[in-house]
Amino acid sequence: MPELSPYLIMKGLKTRVIGQKILYFPTLPSTMDTAREQARLGALEGTVVITGEQTAGRGRLDRSWLSPKGNIALSIILRPDISSLPYLIMIASLAAARSIETITGEKTQIKWPNDVLITGKKVCGILIENELKGNKVSFSVTGIGINTGLKVAGYKEIADTAISLSSAPDSGLRLKLIQALLTEFEALYLLLPQGIQIYESWRGRLVTLGKKVRATWGEQVIEGVAESVDEDGTLFIRDEGGEVRKVVAGDVTLRG
Ligand code: BTN
Repeated sequence: MPELSPYLIMKGLKTRVIGQKILYFPTLPSTMDTAREQARLGALEGTVVITGEQTAGRGRLDRSWLSPKGNIALSIILRPDISSLPYLIMIASLAAARSIETITGEKTQIKWPNDVLITGKKVCGILIENELKGNKVSFSVTGIGINTGLKVAGYKEIADTAISLSSAPDSGLRLKLIQALLTEFEALYLLLPQGIQIYESWRGRLVTLGKKVRATWGEQVIEGVAESVDEDGTLFIRDEGGEVRKVVAGDVTLRG
């Protein structure tokens, strides 16, 4: 299978900040760990760590994330203001949703907070890890995984819930998608001073709103109708007793 080339990725990229440096590794345990090491060593804002395959990919809520050869796995190092942190989830999921649509023509939706879906199945997952010193962000790492060449049916644990853009690894698709993703990401990141626009675009793509949902967070379960989201990303669910409950983190499944 052809390897991704950092040179080719850079060549077609017209961004200023995101992707100004690209570090490519054929294989890594997780791009999150390498990005964190690089950030601690002083990597520039916008540095992107990309790998051909992860052997210990991480997902949200302490889950693992499958990214064998053929998938996209990358992490972006950012140094934002603390007030911008809630928008990073919105930026990353919107950039992924828009770039997948542009490159493949497939219609995408976002499931709160940041899963990107095609026909109701997950095609992309996002993990954000921050390092703070007091109330200052030392750095933030946004990890994005896109199923571009995953034989979903071969993995029992995700066979019913995940989808891949192709079942054959194709570095042409990956190259175009990575470039489009970094371009969309930068356009949104530069919009941060007008966070409201990012929030409104993200909210507009949420498949969750108006639906019956089950939210789980540790031992806690809330069932009801997802009514709204606010600008810091909090989800509000009206439960079966009519009470509005706040969900700031966790997992949401759509019911019915
Ligand atoms: C999720 O949906 O649970 C989040 C998945 C995030 C996966 C990406 S792949 C690149 C980066 N490296 C990791 O180990 N995880 C993120």
